[in-house]
Amino acid sequence: MRTIDGKTKICGLIGNPVEHTLSPLIHNTLAEVLSENLAYAPFLVQEEGLEMAVKGAFALHVQGLNVTVPYKSRILRHTVALDELAARIGAVNTLVRQQDGYKGYNTDMTGLRRAMLSDGVDIAGRKVVVLGAGGAARAVAFMCAFYKAERVYLLNRTLEKAERIAAEVNESAGRDFVQAMPLADYGRLPAGKFIVIQGTSVGLAPEGERAVIEDVAFYEKVQVGYDLIYRPFQTKFMGLVEAAGGEACNGLKMLLYQGVEAFEHWTGRTVSEALADRVYEEMKKAIT
Ligand code: ATR
Repeated sequence: MRTIDGKTKICGLIGNPVEHTLSPLIHNTLAEVLSENLAYAPFLVQEEGLEMAVKGAFALHVQGLNVTVPYKSRILRHTVALDELAARIGAVNTLVRQQDGYKGYNTDMTGLRRAMLSDGVDIAGRKVVVLGAGGAARAVAFMCAFYKAERVYLLNRTLEKAERIAAEVNESAGRDFVQAMPLADYGRLPAGKFIVIQGTSVGLAPEGERAVIEDVAFYEKVQVGYDLIYRPFQTKFMGLVEAAGGEACNGLKMLLYQGVEAFEHWTGRTVSEALADRVYEEMKKAIT
């Protein structure tokens, strides 16, 4: 058991709600294994207290914070600097202490990329299909632009939302590479194998066994499918990908690596793949 003393670095999570978070498990496990004198706790913050919470954390010498719903966009105005990817997306999930305040990062997206790289999947130069046009899918589309995917097909039930994101990302990237499509038009995707990222809420527990596209013909085009959902651990989307011969992954790895990258920012340490795997096993135990 680690002890807290006068030199313990304090980190935490701000959001509402926070009680189901796996982040304390991630950071306290990393700290323990790496003998890093750091403690991590969740902080429930009401909307009207957000600014005070950030100022208070800085005054208390808190080293870093994760930021979760509903504050990932609102937190930007309380930062003193922004990482370039976070600035492009307009969403921050990690604050890192600087001399005069906190710098904002989006390790949700650098974490997703790292999760993919750890599986040997690199989006650079690849065609990517993103399902959904909510906050998560929007961030994924920006991430694809930032890390040089060749093309993104953004499919959503409500076409206008996908069109809005496509226009935004294309403008920010200075190239016309995101194409918005109605979800029902998945049959019009060009031939070939795609990396597919499932960013809709369809299939999320306790809603039951559903996938946003149930037609097996679509899954013939999936080389590797990432579901951003991790409850349930095995989603119907993943089952359909695997049944068609593709590789499937859930969102727990992305959650792991967003934490790993935040921890690295806060401590300057490097988390090995072996240690990340160990933390992943602990997370799996906690949710299944
Ligand atoms: P988040 O911010 O977590 O990404 P969100 O903004 O609520 O979540 O977005 C949910 C996504 O799931 C949207 O793309 C939504 O499609 P619409 O934009 O058409 O609403 C998608 N979604 C939710 N239920 C769906 C369903 N039954 N069929 C298809 N898409 C669905």
